[in-house]
Amino acid sequence: MHNDVEKILFSEDEIRNAVAALGKRIAADVSGNGTPLFIGILKGSFIFMADLVRETGINCEMDFMIAKSYGNSTVSSGTVNIVKDISADITGRDVIVVEDILDTARTLAAVKELLLSRSPASVKICTLLDKVTAKRVSDLKADYKCFDVGNEFVVGYGLDYAEKYRNLKYIGVLKREVYEK
Ligand code: PRP
Repeated sequence: MHNDVEKILFSEDEIRNAVAALGKRIAADVSGNGTPLFIGILKGSFIFMADLVRETGINCEMDFMIAKSYGNSTVSSGTVNIVKDISADITGRDVIVVEDILDTARTLAAVKELLLSRSPASVKICTLLDKVTAKRVSDLKADYKCFDVGNEFVVGYGLDYAEKYRNLKYIGVLKREVYEK
C-alpha cells in the first residue's frame, strides 16, 4: 500500500469484478441504435473507461470530454465549462457517459444537458463511485455505478489528489495529513 494511503476501500480484485459485471450489464442494455458511444470525462475516468469498454465486449466507439466546474457546491450547474468537447456526431445514437465520481453532480448535469441538446437516442450516466453523502445541485442519478462511497478523501484507479495517486491499482482513503499539510 502507498505510504500516503490510510486504508484500501476497494481492492484491485473487487474493482475488476465490479467493472466486469457492469460491462456485461451495459452490453445487455444497449438497444441497437447504431454503434454506442462511450464518452469519458477526463481526467479521472480514463482508467475506469479503459477497463469498462473492454469488459463490455461490444462493438463501440469512444470519445472524451474535459469539463471544469467552478464555484462551491451551492452554485448551480451553469458554472461548468466544457474545455474539450467530443468530435463525434451523437445524433440518434446511444451515449454512455463515463465518470470516476459523482459528487455534487454539477459536472454531469451540465454534460448531460449539452449532450441531450444534440438529439441522441439515449444518454446514460455511468460512474465508478457515487458519493452518497454529497450535496447534490441536481436531481441527476447514475444509471450505472460500481460502488457507493461516503465522505472519505478517495484516490486511485484514476482519482487524484493534486494530480497524484491516479495510477494506484486500488481505491484508497488518503491520509488526512497529506491534504492538510
Ligand atoms: C472530478 C471528477 C468529476 C467531478 C465530480 O473532476 O472527476 O468530473 O469532479 O464532481 P461533481 O459531481 O461535484 O461535479 P475534477 O474537476 O477533479 O477533474 P479530474 O477528473 O481531472 O480529476
